[in-house]
Amino acid sequence: MNQAHLSIRGIRKTFGSFTALDSIHLDVRKNEFVCLLGPSGCGKTTLLRIIAGLESPDSGTVSAGGKDITALPPAQRNFGMMFQSYALFPNMTAAQNIAFGLKSRKLGKRDIAEKVRESLDLVDLWEMRDKYPSQLSGGQQQRIALARAVALSPDFLLLDEPLSALDAKVRHKLRGEIRALQEKIGVTTIMVTHDQEEALTMADRIVVMNNAEVAQIGTPREVYERPASPFVADFIGAINFLDGAELQERGVRGSGMMAVRPEHIGAEEPGSRGGIPAVVRGIEFRGPFYHVMLDVLDSGGEPLGRPMTIHVSAQHYQQLGLEKNKKLSLCLPEERLIAFEPQAAAK
Ligand SMILES: Nc1ncnc2c1ncn2[C@@H]1O[C@H](COP(=O)(O)OP(=O)(O)O)[C@@H](O)[C@H]1O
Ligand SMILES: [Mg+2]
Repeated sequence: MNQAHLSIRGIRKTFGSFTALDSIHLDVRKNEFVCLLGPSGCGKTTLLRIIAGLESPDSGTVSAGGKDITALPPAQRNFGMMFQSYALFPNMTAAQNIAFGLKSRKLGKRDIAEKVRESLDLVDLWEMRDKYPSQLSGGQQQRIALARAVALSPDFLLLDEPLSALDAKVRHKLRGEIRALQEKIGVTTIMVTHDQEEALTMADRIVVMNNAEVAQIGTPREVYERPASPFVADFIGAINFLDGAELQERGVRGSGMMAVRPEHIGAEEPGSRGGIPAVVRGIEFRGPFYHVMLDVLDSGGEPLGRPMTIHVSAQHYQQLGLEKNKKLSLCLPEERLIAFEPQAAAK
């Protein structure tokens, strides 16, 4: 059997009367890249700190490689860590920052120099070795912090929002670099983020968290295409919620609460058979597509007051001559409708 590299069982953590984590279960495979994704305050950092041993749970266990490490102090767990703020020592050069952590491991001078060179090479910043943090860009400082985190060949790499202080362009570039480095050195990685796009682009699997609980665990495609609850559907990507009974009246099969992504709704000239009549209320240009807000119309052509959003390509936008107050016929492909279990629909 393929034993989980990291196994989290029934973790619970409270701060006073506040429950920060409630019965968390998670298995991470060797060399896997897992993202903890969820809104601010849902418990992501607390869970990461428990994995690192910086916080101890009220109950539950953390095991690594089949060994219970719940009570092991951080220094005896072999992990590298990286945070949002650069956390480099400002009075040390890039090379000294990396060497600092190695000295505490009682390595010889030669071995330290070797490891510093190796890890700076990994992030392609050897030529910056004698620069102080203030002489480096934000992106370069985070790459140094990453080099420091992996210098000791950790079993686990723990990243807490490592990209959120960087501007968009650098952030996007570093996503790819972190992932490439993680694959190259083959290190099991757990990254905290509140940015769904970051999780979708970087993770092998995403752990969606909400209110101290795990809402869903799955690959990026699974959580996007088959969200387990309205919360997950709404948190990851844009979504329209639909009333199943109302859909049935219009000849679309559905029951209970349903949902559909804006990019899966078709739009045609009004009057097409089986379409849902709607009127354009607002249009936002989003670059590759238009984000169009509509009101659904009843059989008498009056707005039902149920807003919908659809995504229309620039080309289709022109063909339709889309503008405010234009009437359209919307088409909902049945295979794109997302249904929720009645239990999950309440969340
Ligand atoms: N040391 C602490 N003492 C009291 N409350 C805390 C402490 N650490 C975290 N919390 C609370 O626990 C909740 C989860 O925090 P955190 O894990 O940092 O969330 P996230 O990283 O998802 O934003 C928050 O409401 C936070 O205020
Ligand atoms: Mg946090």
